[in-house]
Amino acid sequence: MRLSRYFLPVLKETPAEAQIASHRLMLRAGMIKQSSAGIYSWLPLGYRVLRNIERIVHEEQQRAGHIPMLMPTLQSADLWRESGRYDAYGPEMLRIRDRHDRDMLYGPTNEEMITDIFRSHVASYRDLPMTLYHIQWKFRDEVRPRFGVMRGREFFMKDGYNFDVSYEDAMYAYDRHMVSYLRTYERMGLKAIPMRADSGPIGGEDTHEFLVLADTGESEVFYDSAITDLTLGDRTIDYDDRASLRAVCEEWTTPYARTDETHDEEAYASIPEERRRTSRGIEVGQIFYFGTKYSEAMGAIVTNEDGERVPVHMGSHGIGVSRLVGAIIEASHDDKGIIWPEGVTPYRAGIVNLRQGDAEADAACEQLYAALGDAGLDPLYDDRDERAGAKFATMDLIGLPWRITVGPRGLAKGVVELTSRRTGESEEMSIEAAVERLREIYAGV
Ligand SMILES: Nc1ncnc2c1ncn2[C@@H]1O[C@H](COP(=O)(O)OP(=O)(O)OP(=O)(O)O)[C@@H](O)[C@H]1O
Ligand SMILES: [Mg+2]
Repeated sequence: MRLSRYFLPVLKETPAEAQIASHRLMLRAGMIKQSSAGIYSWLPLGYRVLRNIERIVHEEQQRAGHIPMLMPTLQSADLWRESGRYDAYGPEMLRIRDRHDRDMLYGPTNEEMITDIFRSHVASYRDLPMTLYHIQWKFRDEVRPRFGVMRGREFFMKDGYNFDVSYEDAMYAYDRHMVSYLRTYERMGLKAIPMRADSGPIGGEDTHEFLVLADTGESEVFYDSAITDLTLGDRTIDYDDRASLRAVCEEWTTPYARTDETHDEEAYASIPEERRRTSRGIEVGQIFYFGTKYSEAMGAIVTNEDGERVPVHMGSHGIGVSRLVGAIIEASHDDKGIIWPEGVTPYRAGIVNLRQGDAEADAACEQLYAALGDAGLDPLYDDRDERAGAKFATMDLIGLPWRITVGPRGLAKGVVELTSRRTGESEEMSIEAAVERLREIYAGV
């Protein structure tokens, strides 16, 4: 993409309504525009990040054997009457009436709808285990939408639902979700800690929330610092191997980590003092096992191996896809702007032409632009007729992890400059070497 032909409505002023860095930076970098309270348009740059996050979520869910599909945003109230939640849900649910006076709602979640799909088509344990998921817009009429996309009213969420014939199989699904979530967040450059949580209105037994540590988080968290050293790195995960999945889950759930809702002072006090940490956290996902709550209420019954008719064991598992855009920025920015992790960056490298209109500089930039494109390394080329300082400020604000600066002085020596947004360090090299270096950097992403 050439910046001269792009739509990147960068703001010079800091928007007054934004209280936290991610909201401020998303507005300043031209990523989103509020349309009404808690409802946003995703402008081109923001949309690219949202899509990258969505893609990683899809890849990791399908790696775990979960099946993608898509359910509608509007749902019939009748299904929710069956589960009893139409009355229980409260004012967060946006209720709509259609022209035939039928009660509808904008889905805040999809347990009822997926249970209805399941019961219509599946009757035997032979079709299980099965986990279906979708990534779709949700609406919750939050009392206080705030912090931009972090607490929106309309937000993009991955929600998955497992159907299993036994408690043991449902726990295997729980473990698949925990491990796939750990991988998902790691690929986004995030440290998200699974914490024992309260089950809240969905009603559950086993549940963990995944929290990204950040001062601006809405939850108070308590944890053993040992948990922040854990990484999956390039471990191979075999999702068919139940025992090894359990081992990974145990590794992550053994060190103490709780939100204020389930915090246990006594257990916390038993952690060596120098490892006790308390902080704020942003909830970027949650996994639940809730047993037969919906299957019993809605008649999602299968025959088991012994020919008995039993309600299926279910769980639901969510990732805040749009919230993650904000959470990643909260975890990765400085006073100049955003610093995207390579896994989610909207463009993989920025090209800054220091002397637009100079035949040699223009030609070198074109060569670089083509070479990066050919290597699958989507560049954003700042080809505007602007001062170098303004171009650098834009690149720093929008946070591409790598910048290549092209100018007459370097070209006289046959080099361009490759700069890391994170460290600020620069290195001079040929155009070919810069492309090769970026290819290596992105090979594992
Ligand atoms: N209003 C919202 N705006 C953006 N993302 C949200 C919002 N509500 C929930 N999410 C995201 O969707 C994920 C799954 O939804 P879940 O039902 O667990 O939310 P929740 O526990 O009600 O969230 P919260 O406690 O933050 O209100 C959450 O972990 C969060 O990342
Ligand atoms: Mg939650």
